Amino acid sequence: MKKFGRISLVLSLTLSMMMLGACSSNNGGGTAEENSGNSGTKSTNSITLGFSQVGAESGWRSANTKSIQDSAKEAGYTLKFSDAQQKQENQIKALRSFIQQKVDVISFSPVVESGWDTVLKEAKDAGIPVILTDRAVDSKDTSLYVTFLGSDFVEEGRKAGQWLTEQYKDAAEDINIVELQGTTGSAPANDRMQGFKEVISSNPNLKIIASQTGDFTRAKGKEVMQAFLKAHKDIDVLYAHNDDMALGAIQAIEAAGLKPGEDIKIISVDAVKDGMQAASEGKINFIVECNPLLGPQLMKVVQDVVDGKSVEARIVTEETTFTSEEAKEALPNRQY
Ligand code: AHR
Repeated sequence: MKKFGRISLVLSLTLSMMMLGACSSNNGGGTAEENSGNSGTKSTNSITLGFSQVGAESGWRSANTKSIQDSAKEAGYTLKFSDAQQKQENQIKALRSFIQQKVDVISFSPVVESGWDTVLKEAKDAGIPVILTDRAVDSKDTSLYVTFLGSDFVEEGRKAGQWLTEQYKDAAEDINIVELQGTTGSAPANDRMQGFKEVISSNPNLKIIASQTGDFTRAKGKEVMQAFLKAHKDIDVLYAHNDDMALGAIQAIEAAGLKPGEDIKIISVDAVKDGMQAASEGKINFIVECNPLLGPQLMKVVQDVVDGKSVEARIVTEETTFTSEEAKEALPNRQY
């Protein structure tokens, strides 16, 4: 665990013991146990975890929420769950409320990368450890959080780019790519774009002719794809930063009388059931997996933090990729 975590654990423990020993009132107004915060002595069923979720924008997000709620229940933690409806100000409010309630640990998936330093500093000053899940923040001061558990989004973008580069390695003409970006300013949108561009830049024929946000939703993916199809008659490839936007785009492509997966090749990220279904039907050609089932790992990290154990500063989720054939094979056993 980082130095900040260790120091705050020791301080909290000392403080709690003093409060219990003195048998006096405490400034939180509750019992000493309720106000002990991250004491390092808590049994599993007395841990309170405050979790601020991005929203419910995609199939991935719903699977992630379920995984966190189920795992917290299984671990016996009290989960204070808050849905930010894709708004940073709602997440900041939720984090402040968790601080006020003196939860033992805060975890959140930041909707965007920037603008977290103040509230993270407030959590640190209150001695409440913060665990980032799924998405990163761009804070220079990494002591503001204990660890970041989630995917390597740059690598996901690279995998998408590698498949495309391989498909078109012999192309003699330009290949026109349109890109549906995730939420503007979010880590997955920034990183998936970066990794993809990094790889396809090795082939000057691979050209991104349009790139716009679809906010990770099906509705926006459809709307933006409709606009792309109107503006460009010669689209060869769609790179969507998630399955939901790809699925919305498929509706737009079909409505335009074109065959998704054939007239326009489609690459997406996530590998949720609906995306895998479309891939198995040949409508999506390649999916890079992004695993939403972070709950069990998160609960383990929470327990380790409370126990004062050392935690890796970065925990990367293992992921794979699926061609249409591989999606067909994997679909019957897909959990989410
Ligand atoms: O942060 C993970 C991304 O957020 C998923 O790829 C996307 O579907 C979700 O909305």
